[in-house]
Amino acid sequence: MVKIAPSILAADFTRLGEDIRSVESGDLLHFDVMDGVFVPNISFGLPVIKDVRRVTDMPLDVHLMIVNPIKYVERFAAMGADIITIHVESDTPENTRMALERIRSAGKRAGLSLRPATPVSALEPFAHLLDNILIMAVEPGFGGQHFMDGTPEKIADAARLAAALDHPCDVEVDGGVNHQTAGICVKAGATVLVAGSDVFASADRAAEIRYLRGAL
Ligand code: DX5
Ligand code: ZN
Repeated sequence: MVKIAPSILAADFTRLGEDIRSVESGDLLHFDVMDGVFVPNISFGLPVIKDVRRVTDMPLDVHLMIVNPIKYVERFAAMGADIITIHVESDTPENTRMALERIRSAGKRAGLSLRPATPVSALEPFAHLLDNILIMAVEPGFGGQHFMDGTPEKIADAARLAAALDHPCDVEVDGGVNHQTAGICVKAGATVLVAGSDVFASADRAAEIRYLRGAL
């Protein structure tokens, strides 16, 4: 059964606690952290993770769309993040490797994400350090975009890379996940689906999460 990670980027921040409770039937809670440099948008950061950690037992799935994440991964770990995914395009290969090692040394699960234009082969030098591969189905920076062509092929490439590892590694898809695209992602090999606008725009969020979880 595919895991569902509602993205709080689509939540109402004037009632974040209530919105989180409304999606607690999800498997993970996804945080889209943006710095306005790696992506042309600024969202939220460490204080939000710290406070949300106090109000939910959901695993916190932190997606860092920031430059030089090596400078912050240990602080996100200390704030209570459970999975910390950085972008392979956001720093040098050496710093990326060190950042992944620091995430794991902090006892957390380490992930790498790819912009749509970046091939899965870019992850190969780091594959032994990965517990999660996050495939962007949209250009990172904004929720509510359309699922891009070519994404199923990238999911399949990532699933092949993950299957070749000697340890478990999730294949997570982020962006434009909804009734039309969830099944396509699962068929291609996705094990986790991020859903922001689709879930938070639903009149019955728990029902929507159930629907997406059953997508085939
Ligand atoms: C893009 C973000 C979005 C968000 C989910 O940087 O990562 O993909 O999580 O967006 P939607 O609303 O398309 O599910
Ligand atoms: Zn994300």
